[in-house]
Amino acid sequence: MITIKNSVQIEKMREAGAMLHDVLAQLKGKIEPGITTKELDRFAEKLIRSYGAIPSFLNYEGYPASICTSVDSQVVHGIPSDRTVLREGQIVSVDAGLILDGWQSDSAFTAGVGPISAEAQRLIDVTEESFFAALEAAREGYRISDIGHAVQQYVEQRGFSTVRALCGHGIGREMHEEPSVPNYGIPGHGVRLRRGMTICIEPMIAVGDYRVKTLRDGWTVVTTDGSLCSHYEHTLLITDGEPELLSLPGYHKEETR
Ligand code: MF3
Ligand code: CO
Repeated sequence: MITIKNSVQIEKMREAGAMLHDVLAQLKGKIEPGITTKELDRFAEKLIRSYGAIPSFLNYEGYPASICTSVDSQVVHGIPSDRTVLREGQIVSVDAGLILDGWQSDSAFTAGVGPISAEAQRLIDVTEESFFAALEAAREGYRISDIGHAVQQYVEQRGFSTVRALCGHGIGREMHEEPSVPNYGIPGHGVRLRRGMTICIEPMIAVGDYRVKTLRDGWTVVTTDGSLCSHYEHTLLITDGEPELLSLPGYHKEETR
C-alpha cells in the first residue's frame, strides 16, 4: 500500500529527517584513517538515542548494528566491525536511519578516507549528481520508473553502471514501504507520483559491472567484479513542485550543496 502523508505527519518526518541529517554530518566529520567502522556505529547509536530517537537499522530483520558501513567494493549493508580499520585512499558509504515519534528517515553518503584517487572521487561525485538529476522526475505527475531512468541515463553516459538488484523505497511509519524505486529502467512505467508521498531515492553506482552478490555474513553486498561502488540516499517528499529533501533540510535546487 502506498501511503499519502498529511501535513502533521509530514512535519514529523521533517523533524526525523533534520535529525538524521545532523547525525550523518557528524559521522562524516569522524571519517579519517585509523577509525574503525564499529567506532562509527557506536557513535551513531549513542547520538541517535541521545536525541530521543531509535536507530531503525538495529535488529531490522536481525541486522546487528545501527548503521551500515560499506567500504570500496562493498555496495551496501556492510556490518560495522572493530576489525575494519579505515585506511587512507578507501571510500566508505555510511547509511543510517532513525525513528522519531514513530516516523522514519533514511539517508546515506559516501566519502573518501583521507586523499583518494581521481576515479574514486569522480564515482562519488557522479553518484550524488545522479541523485540530483533524478529529482527532476521526483515530481507529481511523473511515474516511478522516470526516476530510475534519470539515474541510469546520467551514470551510463559517464561510463559507470547502476546496481539493479537493490532499490529505493517508500518510507513513513515503516522504513520500507511501497513503492519500490529502482535506479534504472525505461520511462513512463509504474505508479504515478502524488503530493504527500514520501520516498527514498538511493543510487548505488559502480565503476565496473552492475552485478552484485551477498557475502556469507548474510548482509554485505559487494560488486561481483570487485569494482568500487558508491551510494547516496535521501528521504524526500513529493509536492506539487520541487521535491522537499527531508533528510537535507534547507536544500533548494540550484544552491550549492
Ligand atoms: N538503509 C537501507 C535502505 O536504504 C536499509 C538498511 S537495511 C538494515 O533500504 F538492515 F541495515 F537495516
Ligand atoms: Co533506503
